[in-house]
Amino acid sequence: MQEALNSKKGNEASMMTKQVQERRYRQTRINVPFMELKREHEILRKDLHKVWDDVLDSTGFIGGAAVEGFETAFAAFCEVKHAVGVGNGTDALLLALKALGIGPGDEVITAANSFVATAEAIVHSGATPVFVDIDHKTYNIDINQIEDHITTRTKAIIPVHLYGQPADMDSVLSVAKLYGLRVIEDAAQAHGARYHGRRAGSMGDAACFSFYPAKNLGACGDGGAVVSNDPSIAEAVRRLRDHGGLKKYEHDVVGHNSRLDSLQAAVLQIKLQHLEGRNEMRRQHARAYGELLSQTDGVVTPFEPTGVAGVYHLYVIRTERGSRDRLQEFLKNNGVQTGIHYPAPIHRTPAFASFCEYACPVAEGYAKRILSLPMYPEIERNQLEYVADLVSMRTFEGSQ
Ligand SMILES: Cc1ncc(COP(=O)(O)O)c(C=O)c1O
Repeated sequence: MQEALNSKKGNEASMMTKQVQERRYRQTRINVPFMELKREHEILRKDLHKVWDDVLDSTGFIGGAAVEGFETAFAAFCEVKHAVGVGNGTDALLLALKALGIGPGDEVITAANSFVATAEAIVHSGATPVFVDIDHKTYNIDINQIEDHITTRTKAIIPVHLYGQPADMDSVLSVAKLYGLRVIEDAAQAHGARYHGRRAGSMGDAACFSFYPAKNLGACGDGGAVVSNDPSIAEAVRRLRDHGGLKKYEHDVVGHNSRLDSLQAAVLQIKLQHLEGRNEMRRQHARAYGELLSQTDGVVTPFEPTGVAGVYHLYVIRTERGSRDRLQEFLKNNGVQTGIHYPAPIHRTPAFASFCEYACPVAEGYAKRILSLPMYPEIERNQLEYVADLVSMRTFEGSQ
């Protein structure tokens, strides 16, 4: 029985490889960048120039109508009451933590695998980051391990919607409620994602976004926002972002200089109009990759839990057979750029090692096996096929 199964699998594998080879021989080498901003800007160039001119003519480079207009539009998009533009996503997290009164002596729980900025913000607030391992299927915080890390000093949880896939927010919110903790969503990679109908960013006490150029909603420079349904949190962030006051030369608290500038706000308002459509293109590409790689044993494609609509900021596969580094090298030699998000979990970077004395085995193991494939709205079908074929070929050959 087992032999029959093995031989069936072997036949399927060689048929698949033959198909891949045939398709590959039809294709000449092409270059596939990891991401691409030029084409979006070509399409929007006229509109961008127009709003830039408006800001130039107004000479209102800080605050004003452009920033307020974007904040209103972004709050509506996120289905929340308030959005406050700030200088970048890292500051969004820092100011949200401070607005919630979190600081020295407090502990904040977050996922071991995120961009380092999540933990940086916690440390800069004066609090201590506490890292929780990730779920082996979703790569987001493992909700079954959160309670083990709660102490009398725990004040908040920052779930990260990594790669654009919302974390299991119902579970996070119910643990938070049980222990009286605040929840700040790190939605820096998840503009427009949905979790059981709710927008990423609309579920916690506050949520933080980055508008770094490569993000699904990216500025032409740095930018970020804190969104919330709580007017007191929004107002506290407004104070903190502008030297501690709501009016010039009023300084109620010690603040920061972290404002979203008007040129970026104007750009973002244009790009926001196209975000839903562009996210849908990413979702279609993710489905195509999933289909193209479905027969490739040894490659694990992203898992989308029921009720979750991710926005594929990144399309991350995991190699279960052969070397990830050799696969990456092979792709590079064939013109395909890839990324690794991230080469080490945060607690295994020198800067944060002292905050974590225990292991997070899933995050640590996956760091050696994950590979982010090219993903952007303008990627073309032949590019998706080319990348998937190379991954399949290499994975098959690597397993011989
Ligand atoms: C998950 C996550 N959090 C926070 C940030 C920080 O955003 P920014 O680079 O705008 O400071 C990023 C940006 O890369 C991110 O990916």
